[in-house]
Amino acid sequence: MYGEPRTLYFAGRVASEDLSERLHARGWSIEHVDPAKPPKAGKGGKRAAAGIVDLTSRGFAKEPGALLELLAAYQIGWVATVDAEHVDNPDICRLIRDFCFDYVTLPSGADRIVDAVGHAYGMIALHDTASNDPQKADCREGAMVGSCDAMQALYRSIRKVAMTDAPVFISGESGTGKELTAVAIHERSVRREQPFVAINCGAIPPHLLQSELFGYERGAFTGANQRKIGRVEAANGGTLFLDEIGDLPLESQASLLRFLQERKIERLGGQTSTEVDVRIISATHVDMQTAMIEGRFRADLYHRLCVLQIDEPPLRVRGKDIELLANHMLERFRKDASRRLRGFSPCAIAALHNYGWPGNVRELINRVRRAIVMSEGRQILASDLELGEYAEAAPMTLAQAREQAERQAIEVALLRHRGRLGEAADELGISRVTLYRMLTAYGLRTKADRPLEVSGG
Ligand SMILES: Nc1ncnc2c1ncn2[C@@H]1O[C@H](COP(=O)(O)OP(=O)(O)OP(=O)(O)O)[C@@H](O)[C@H]1O
Ligand SMILES: [Mg+2]
Repeated sequence: MYGEPRTLYFAGRVASEDLSERLHARGWSIEHVDPAKPPKAGKGGKRAAAGIVDLTSRGFAKEPGALLELLAAYQIGWVATVDAEHVDNPDICRLIRDFCFDYVTLPSGADRIVDAVGHAYGMIALHDTASNDPQKADCREGAMVGSCDAMQALYRSIRKVAMTDAPVFISGESGTGKELTAVAIHERSVRREQPFVAINCGAIPPHLLQSELFGYERGAFTGANQRKIGRVEAANGGTLFLDEIGDLPLESQASLLRFLQERKIERLGGQTSTEVDVRIISATHVDMQTAMIEGRFRADLYHRLCVLQIDEPPLRVRGKDIELLANHMLERFRKDASRRLRGFSPCAIAALHNYGWPGNVRELINRVRRAIVMSEGRQILASDLELGEYAEAAPMTLAQAREQAERQAIEVALLRHRGRLGEAADELGISRVTLYRMLTAYGLRTKADRPLEVSGG
């Protein structure tokens, strides 16, 4: 009656015989997983699955942080099994709230667990049907255009993190689409009907930031003629997007941290505190490791914000997507042209690929819009894009060509492995030491996570 077996991921001690039998009887095939090796997106990840995380297993409850990556795995409806005392542990409560559909306190009958698993699976499958258009899922994510490997990985990350309530930290160069990603996460989450409130932490003067974030009561200061609701409170029930978080002044970092710990706000001049339920997404183009080393950003705040991380790929590593995006923007803005445009000339296409795009997608949009207005022929030329000098690939020596190819392969590998040198080096078929040397030579060291850990060899 259940058709082909559905996968049930089981994290913990071996499932009891009674539980295993009942799960099998309901069409589940059990796969034990190790939190250190979460199921890969490709593996059973395309289809919805359910999971049991047995927090009564040794070590799990002591170190719930080690379970994060497993629990965030793609399209799995988790049910936690816990001991009665776990429910008083704030770390465990948070873990369950952020990642699980339900929890069952042991000892409970196996039937109760199996029912919860069925429910979690049903919810995840529903979510799947509602928000995945199979035709488009892999080349467009809402307003995002792109189908290269790096973008597909990004879409998968968006879908994964949208299923949880845990804080997400989006890093990436300027103009890569961080804000678009934040919106996409919100729109795929259960909070999509609730507000999405963005705040640009760098654009508000420090002395106004407190009142902007938390609001104030009437009479809190001269000119406070009426109560004002802060942005945090305005986002209640929905998502709060803290943009340019790397530019948040130190003095405001302390009060944001307090809010994240207590989930309560106090309006300026207020006597009472109000509970607020928001999902936090933050983004920055600032290199946070350096900011923390230099004392510009509190490490404790960073670790609260960066439970799940998404890295936005720079435009220069997106290959054919550059053309795809340029054409998309041409379609979108072509009505601004004085004549009917037929597209990009071959030299313009070459220039699009040869250029390094420091301003990423935003720069591409601006150049295409300008070219649409300025072009005098039927085709957009490299010079219309103001990329005339990139039209012809500048003559290159073999050594330069090799360097360019190596650089790009390294950037893509680091992106794919979140800056983890060991894994990137494995994929590239070189040693960590060699990779480290190349990173230094190509000025890419900031892209690696903890680059110095390799210094011992
Ligand atoms: N994949 C994409 N497809 C279509 N449009 C995109 C894509 N990525 C970014 N854009 C567009 O590029 C512009 C910049 O994107 P966004 O504001 O999200 O970038 P950002 O990373 O937040 O930049 P910054 O660091 O400068 O704040 C926006 O107009 C956005 O709509
Ligand atoms: Mg932005």
